[in-house]
This record gives sequence, C-alpha cells and structure tokens, in this order.
Amino acid sequence: MTVYTVRPFQSSQQEYEALASLLHAASPGGRPESGEDLEREDREWPTDSLMARVAAYSDGEEMVAVGACYEAYWQESPFTAHARFDTHPAHPQVQLLPALFEGVQGVLARHKGRFRRLVCRAKEDDRDRVDFLLRNGFQEAMRFPSSTLQLEAFDASVWAEAYDRLAQERIRPLTLSQFRTEEPDWKRRLRDLRWKIVQDVPSTEPFAKPSVAEFEEMVLGDPALVEEAFFIALSDGGALVGMSNLWRNDPEGRRLDAGLTGVIRSHRRRGIATALKLRTVEFAQANGAETIETSNEEGSPMLALNFKLGFESNPAWVDFVKELQA
Ligand SMILES: CC(C)(COP(=O)(O)OP(=O)(O)OC[C@H]1O[C@@H](n2cnc3c(N)ncnc32)[C@H](O)[C@@H]1OP(=O)(O)O)[C@@H](O)C(=O)NCCC(=O)NCCS
Repeated sequence: MTVYTVRPFQSSQQEYEALASLLHAASPGGRPESGEDLEREDREWPTDSLMARVAAYSDGEEMVAVGACYEAYWQESPFTAHARFDTHPAHPQVQLLPALFEGVQGVLARHKGRFRRLVCRAKEDDRDRVDFLLRNGFQEAMRFPSSTLQLEAFDASVWAEAYDRLAQERIRPLTLSQFRTEEPDWKRRLRDLRWKIVQDVPSTEPFAKPSVAEFEEMVLGDPALVEEAFFIALSDGGALVGMSNLWRNDPEGRRLDAGLTGVIRSHRRRGIATALKLRTVEFAQANGAETIETSNEEGSPMLALNFKLGFESNPAWVDFVKELQA
C-alpha cells in the first residue's frame, strides 16, 4: 500500500509546477493554469487574508493531493474559512482526504479563535467525499445543481419574441466592448451594476463590495473574459439594468461557462434576463461552442429560467458547513 506524507506547501517553483499538473488532473474540465499563474495568484492574494496549503506526496515523492485553507476576500465573512481538497484520480481519496483534513485542521489551529465556520464544496455524486465531510461534522448548507445547454439542439427562433419584448421595454443590449467605447466611466458603472446584482445571489456567506481596482482584477483581468460575450442592458434613461456573460475557461472554446446573470430589482420580470441569456446563446452558437455550462442555487429564479431555456440538469455542487469550536 502506498504511504502518503503530508507536509506544508513550500511555494517553490517546482511545487507550483507540480500543483498545476495536479489541479489539471483533479479537474480536467477546469481552466488550465500554469505554475507561474498559480504563483502570481498567491503573490497577489491580499496579505491580510489567509491562504495556506498542505500537500500529500506518494512514496515516490509525487504530489498527489492538496488541501487548501483560505479566506474568501470577495466575501464579507471575517469568521469563515474555506477548505478545498484536490486529489489525483489515480490515488485513493478515502486515504488522502483524512490526511489533508488533518493538515487543514493544523492550519486552523495556528489561527485559533479567528474562524468560527469552515465551508467546503463537493459534488453530490462524489460519495466518498460527501460521506467524509458528513462524518467529520460538516452539514449540507446549500445546493447548486449544475446544468448544460446543448447548443446544436437549441432553436433560438422559439425565443425571438424575447428581443421584441426588450425593444418594447426600451432596453438596449450592448456588449462590453461597445459599452467601454461609449462610456468613459465604464469600469465604475459596471462595478456598481454587478454589486447591485451580486447582493441577491444565493450564497452561504454574504459578498463584500469590491473597490473598482478589485473589480478590475477579479473580473476584467480574468483571462477567460470574452468582451463580445459579455452583455449589458441599458435603459432608455441610460441606467444599467442587467448583465449576462460567458467565460472561456475551456481553451478550445467547445464549452463556455455562464457567468453572472442579473437584473436590478426595479426591472425584474420584464424578460430582460431571458433576452440577455439568448444573446449569450447566440454568441456561443456563432463561435462554434457545443455547450454552455452553469450551476445555480436550487431554489433560485435563475435555475427556473435556465430550465425554461432548455438547460438540462446534472449533479449538484453542494456547500457543506462545519461550525468550529471556539
Ligand atoms: C434571476 C434573475 C436574473 C431573473 O431576471 P429577470 O429579468 O427578472 O428574468 P425574466 O424576466 O427574463 O424571467 C424569465 C422567466 O424566469 C422565471 N423567473 C424569473 N424570476 C423568477 C422568480 N422570482 N420566481 C420564479 N420564476 C422566475 C419565470 O419563468 C420568468 O418568466 P415569467 O416572468 O414569464 O413567469 C433576477 O431575479 C436576478 O437578478 N436575481 C439576482 C441575481 C442572481 O441570483 N443571479 C443568478 C446567479 S448567476
């Protein structure tokens, strides 16, 4: 039987390269990131927010799993830490998860009294992981069914009336590149629109309002952003009332991931989100994508809207929460 050794991640260049390979093996559909990308992200992580990792090595000294313990600086939850476990599919989770969790608990022990909750996400069909979390004092807090839209089968003509409705409401859809050209204050206005929407997005922890610089780094600086697939709804009075966008995390562009869709409260139930989502679907079809993927909280109107458009349900992501002893 392989013996695994867990020790703190040392942040050497070699370890970042090993981490990049491991993350790719653990989540082949995720955005591929190089060791250099990961090193830069860590370097740019706010210094007052926790980010620590422990890594598990096989007897041959190959990095086969990583446990991260971090604070989500984009949330307003000073007492919450998050745990994330990535394991290589060729190595047994049942053996690795307890070892990584022990390492994460060691990190938390060094910050005793600072955190009251630990949040960890798992796919509902990953039974070993779900059972491990439940056995270790985590409870299911929120479910986010993932869903897929098959683009070949999608018939946009059925939904053409959505664009008429948008015109009747005197709402103009713009791409991010159009908006950027028309509006000198585009970054701040887009940050403000996103902030109005984000506050209504279901989450176990409330979100923090980002500064324009933070918004720029988190959203506009994301290499997966596609300006022509980022739609913004503008009212005839010039107010920004909604957005919907796609992210190109799959480098081949066969799969596009739905980003934040939202409409400000005063303008809901007028078909704005439907029309903006249709624009994203049209973009995806025109650019040769095969699927759009997303996940939404199970009771949210967004999920209802996506199902109405033809998204089909897949296993859910589940946020588990463990209350920590003082
Ligand atoms: C979800 C959201 C984007 C919907 O925007 P919208 O412009 O009001 O949606 P639409 O008018 O296009 O609604 C289309 C259909 O979706 C469903 N729907 C929308 N809102 C709903 C609600 N509150 N309850 C139940 N069904 C709803 C309905 O079937 C609706 O059709 P109908 O009005 O003819 O009944 C909006 O509620 C929102 O911004 N929520 C907060 C942000 C959020 O959670 N975003 C998702 C995270 S990515």
